[in-house]
Amino acid sequence: MKKWNDSPKIQELLSRMTLQEKIGQLNQRNICAYDEHVEEIKQEVREGKIGSLLFSGSAIPENGGMEAFDLDFTRELQEAAMESRLKIPLLLGRDVIHGFETIFPIPLMMAASFDDRLIEECYSALAAEAGNAGVRWAFAPMLDLSRDPRWGRVIEGPGEDPLLGSRYAASAVRGFQGGSPAQEGRLLACAKHFIGYGASEGGRDYHHTEISDYALQNQYLPAFRAAVRAGVGSVMASFNELSGQPVTGSRRLLTEVLREQLGFDGFVVSDWGGVEQLEAQGVAENGADCARLALQAGVDMDMADQCFARHLEAEVMAGRVSMEEIDRAVERVLQAKLRAGLFRQPVRETVNIDRVKHRALARRIAGESMVLLKNDRNLLPLSKKGRVVLTGCMAQNRDSLMGAWTPDGSADSVITIEEGIRAVAPELELFTESCTLLSDMTAVMEQADTVILALGESARASGEFHCLADISLPEDQAALALRARRLGKKVVGLLCFGRPIALGDTISLFDAVLYAGHAGCEAGMAAAELLFGDRNPSGHLSMTLPRSVGQLPLYYNAAPSGRPVNGYYTECRNYIDESGSPLYPFGYGLSYTSFQVEKARLEKETLSLAELSAGEKAVLHVWVSNTGERDGDTVLQLYLRDPAASMARPLRELKAYERRTLSAGETAEFVFRLGLEELGYYLPDGLLTLEKGEIQLFAGFDAWAEECAKLRIV
Ligand code: BGC
Repeated sequence: MKKWNDSPKIQELLSRMTLQEKIGQLNQRNICAYDEHVEEIKQEVREGKIGSLLFSGSAIPENGGMEAFDLDFTRELQEAAMESRLKIPLLLGRDVIHGFETIFPIPLMMAASFDDRLIEECYSALAAEAGNAGVRWAFAPMLDLSRDPRWGRVIEGPGEDPLLGSRYAASAVRGFQGGSPAQEGRLLACAKHFIGYGASEGGRDYHHTEISDYALQNQYLPAFRAAVRAGVGSVMASFNELSGQPVTGSRRLLTEVLREQLGFDGFVVSDWGGVEQLEAQGVAENGADCARLALQAGVDMDMADQCFARHLEAEVMAGRVSMEEIDRAVERVLQAKLRAGLFRQPVRETVNIDRVKHRALARRIAGESMVLLKNDRNLLPLSKKGRVVLTGCMAQNRDSLMGAWTPDGSADSVITIEEGIRAVAPELELFTESCTLLSDMTAVMEQADTVILALGESARASGEFHCLADISLPEDQAALALRARRLGKKVVGLLCFGRPIALGDTISLFDAVLYAGHAGCEAGMAAAELLFGDRNPSGHLSMTLPRSVGQLPLYYNAAPSGRPVNGYYTECRNYIDESGSPLYPFGYGLSYTSFQVEKARLEKETLSLAELSAGEKAVLHVWVSNTGERDGDTVLQLYLRDPAASMARPLRELKAYERRTLSAGETAEFVFRLGLEELGYYLPDGLLTLEKGEIQLFAGFDAWAEECAKLRIV
């Protein structure tokens, strides 16, 4: 284990701790300022029975209104810890997922910006805001790769791709922790949920997951590998049972894979009640079994269910758990507290927060993450001087634009779509109508030739335990679009859904579609800037957009088939009644200008395995032109295919990307470097490998990119 300085202090502390005090460090309880148990919990803190507190009222969060804590409350709690015999500070944690006071877009949308640096800045802003309220540990980033948008928690993570997820992971960890989580305005991050939770069968939350070791290594682990490399201080074990093993009780996953293969040296916390749930999950007979199994698997801290606190002492006394096992977990927790600077400063001074800057960041990332899906006859951007009707359930909405998992945000801080449009286009004749009966809509829509339909879903239709069986465009919303279309209007769909939805044939009802997501406090401004051309759209889908629910799961990096049913890339029919291809592929996104790959050149078309093993990289130069009349940001994506390897590799794998601004008419050179790690893949046992043969490279602006070069590995 890496020692974060001063480890003699940890050893000295350990030597003075009683067994009860040690178990106390492994016990995390949840608390709210208004909780009737506050005094009782403080007393337990003084007695050394609690090592960490989680600010949360319940396992299933709602947005806003929780008032779980503030700085004074956190100070009182740390004061109680300072009254304990050994004066060990508490680790105070909170779900800081994509917002605190400032609400950024949901992570699935932030990822769609493909802008690593900006994502990092957003997480830095969150760290400073949460830190000022006394939070020292954030339960984020959530890195669950998911291929099923029915799963409500899909909005909390970076989407379906391992590389995008990995770069998101590194950016978020750097943003939260900076050079050190002990520094001013920084906090300890927690990569969650390890591992495979996003594969929950049928998109049903808490459900069974079935993942082969091959898929685990190449699809689900990369984001965690990246978080570990970025130095993430903690990892949360996931609720799911994976191929017969509930993760919370799996030594193979939490110790052999996470620590021995990935090299993680921080501490592992269970998810809420995850230890106790081992009984319901069918691998333990009682609470004592659960506690022993989880600790021995590699869980160091028990979240909320107090199973460790209730059973570990007796398990040690009975000789079923060793003191070394307890000490190992306690040492990891104490190391994290040391690393987070808690011994030096249990309570920190607040830092200055530049709220204007945070809002500007929120607007920028919202603007960069919205995806232009369709723009027939260049309907967008709209003129600021025309007449426009704005309607639909999201036109005046604030609450749902924040997205799920924003317990510290206030809907009052959200700029609505209507407010955004009025601010961006003050001279526009704007007619608005919110929730009007469909039969009245004719009169409303007759007021202008262009209708903006702000459609979407409630934030409560996504997040934990909020899954949907049907993710198609809701019938009443499709009816609105149909009405506008039948009236001969130009129809702009502004889609404020958290998850990708299945638009099916309803796509034809719109002339233009901007996928805005749940875009946070600046949603209205960002959307308006894009609709009226103050900003050029540049977001690219972080998840495939299916045509229909029946296609799910649908993802771009599918395995090749021996029969011609690789529908993602051809119009072959996997179904009798539906195409095999998505409506829009992963990585897709239009702009008001157009980009074109001009040419590509590999510096060396042949590389040997020996050269690659020695660190040499394949260097690919790609020239891209902005062929339109506006400046704009492009996201150049590089995919590869290894058509013959000892394991079947996917039809496409994203291996590099770069976002860059190109002026109208400009041609720019992009350089991608692919080493062993990018070209190779993991065998089921976790060994990185690459074999001789040809590798195809594809450069473009989505997963349908065209082949641009071939590399020979000899
Ligand atoms: C969620 C976690 C979250 C924890 C604490 C659980 O129900 O799965 O993601 O961090 O609650 O709120």
